[in-house]
Amino acid sequence: MYCTRKITDDISYIGGSDRRLALFENIYPVPNGISYNAYFIDDEKTAILDTVDKAVSELYLENVEAMLHGRAPDYVIVNHMEPDHCAALGELCARYPALQIVCTAKAAALIGQFYNTDLAARCVQVKEGDTLSLGRHTLAFYTAPMVHWPEVMVTYDQTEHILFSADAFGTFGALGGSIFADETGFCKADFAEARRYYANIVGKYGPQVLALLKKAAGLTIDYICPLHGPIWRKDIGVFVEKYQKWASYTPEEKAVLIAYASIYGGTQNAAEILAAKLADRGVTNLAVYDVSCIHPSYLVSEAFRCSHLVFASSTYNNGIFTNMETLLLDLQAHALKNRTVALMENGSWAPQSGKLMRELLASMKDTKLLEESVSLRSTVKSDDLTKIDALADALTADMQQ
Ligand code: FEO
Repeated sequence: MYCTRKITDDISYIGGSDRRLALFENIYPVPNGISYNAYFIDDEKTAILDTVDKAVSELYLENVEAMLHGRAPDYVIVNHMEPDHCAALGELCARYPALQIVCTAKAAALIGQFYNTDLAARCVQVKEGDTLSLGRHTLAFYTAPMVHWPEVMVTYDQTEHILFSADAFGTFGALGGSIFADETGFCKADFAEARRYYANIVGKYGPQVLALLKKAAGLTIDYICPLHGPIWRKDIGVFVEKYQKWASYTPEEKAVLIAYASIYGGTQNAAEILAAKLADRGVTNLAVYDVSCIHPSYLVSEAFRCSHLVFASSTYNNGIFTNMETLLLDLQAHALKNRTVALMENGSWAPQSGKLMRELLASMKDTKLLEESVSLRSTVKSDDLTKIDALADALTADMQQ
């Protein structure tokens, strides 16, 4: 049975949520599920905005049918051709042979790749600033390449000031009845999941996100309707401000992230002593994580939040402990910059991780590596405490700049 909700008189939510999925994109844990959003505009001509993942395709197709009340749909607008949003496109077009696909030229090429050339031939290709009138509603299209794929565009409803923002402004987590951020109060934990979604999915493409924000700044926006997570109709500026920071790689908070990789506890001990010494110095915005006990996507997100990052790693196979190396490579892949970084290493016979982490971090732009560092041999000794004190002093001083 269909399950939809009204956004405005003419526009409805027709997406669905998956709470069974363990890993989004087969990599990111989604303990609270994920929503695949799609929208329907009921006008003289009808428009469907995007389709959904195969997990909710059946519900989506029922929703479309219910919205149509026996009519044939006129347009499906494909803002993004990634399979979590286009899995139902083939079946939708098979059910409604006269349905026209509105998308960018790059999306049309992807439709040919994911489906076939017959479907690609049904595309009405649009360019930057093109408009489409449905009757009361006029839609304008703006390209948003690499937010998060090259074919992406966003659709702006000029009539009701609604931005259908594709992956931008998305959030991990299923929607349960409440589809508006203001209905659930979008708390700190929700913003953490929005940040984790942003940092991991779109974080690499900060300049492109900034370009989209610049375009959006010229529009009056009363609603943001993303492809994942809740719709925004209140306090939109709060979310846009977060996006400005994330996209420009500006730390969201003066905070210290301490991520440690410890085999038998020596490195963990050093990390916790450092955290305690920072707290003694008045630094209370601290987050300490064991890289072996948390998925790296959470740490990538924390690195986007925090101004100061400390990596403490054991030496393993004469290299960086595997999970720490994965984290650092992930941060490098997501183009994180503008951070102050400090290192601690450990090695029972030949400490190497510090040197190797330093080399890896050297490729990350605008990273300030503190000279003060700590090199342990197996466990923390009295002499090491002086070094940890010096590191705590250097971090505290840097945070006050
Ligand atoms: Fe939600 Fe880039 O797909």
